[in-house]
Amino acid sequence: MRHTAATRHNEAMPTRPLSPLDRLLADAQNALETIAGQPRAERRNPGDGEADVQLDEAERRHAAGLMRINHVGEVCAQALYVGQASVARDPATRAHLLEAAQEETDHLAWCADRLRELDSRPSLFNPVWYAGSYAIGLLAGLRGDGWNLGFVVETERQVEAHLEEHLRTLPGADLRSRAILRTMKADEARHADSAEAAGARILPQPIPAMMSAASKLMKTVAYRL
Ligand SMILES: [Fe+2]
Ligand SMILES: [Fe+2]
Repeated sequence: MRHTAATRHNEAMPTRPLSPLDRLLADAQNALETIAGQPRAERRNPGDGEADVQLDEAERRHAAGLMRINHVGEVCAQALYVGQASVARDPATRAHLLEAAQEETDHLAWCADRLRELDSRPSLFNPVWYAGSYAIGLLAGLRGDGWNLGFVVETERQVEAHLEEHLRTLPGADLRSRAILRTMKADEARHADSAEAAGARILPQPIPAMMSAASKLMKTVAYRL
C-alpha cells in the first residue's frame, strides 16, 4: 500500500466523512510533499539494474532536460489526480484516482533520482505546474465522474505517446533513464486502460487539443528551467 497525503488522511479518520476543509488540508500537504519533499518509491528504481554509462556533456544536458520534463509530468499527474479526487462524486472513482496518484509517486521519485545522478535539478516552476494542474483537475472533476475518468484516459495516453518520443530521443547510452521511462510507459498504459474500464467518457475537442498545447508549453519551459 502506497501513501499519498490524501490516503493517509483517510486512514487516520475512517469513521467520519471528510469535510471540504479536511480535503483542502490533505491536498495542501500532498502539494508540499510533491514539490518540496522527497517522495519515496515503493518499487525499486528500474534504472538501478542498468550500467551508469558516462555521457558526454551535451548528452548529459539533453538527458537531464528530458528527465526534468518527465519529472514535471509526474508533478502534474499528482496534482491532477489529487484535484480530481477531491471533487469526485462516487467513492469508487475517488479511490481509483487516489490509487493512480500513488503509482505516480514511484515515477516522481525515480525521475528525481535520475536528475540527481545526471547532476541536475527539478524544474524551478514546479509550484506553478502543480497549482495549474490541480485547478484543471478540480474543473474536470466538477463536470462529473465520467469526465473525470475521461480526463485520466486522455492524460495517460498523451503521456504514453510522449514517453515513446523520449525513448527515441534520449542518448543511446543513457540506459538508466531508458529503463525508467520504459516502466513508466507500461504503467501509464495500464492507468488509461483501467480508467477506460471504470467508465470514462471520451473527451470532446477542443479539450484534448488544449491539453496537448498546455503540455507542449510545459515541455518547452521544463527542458531548460
Ligand atoms: Fe506517471
Ligand atoms: Fe499514470
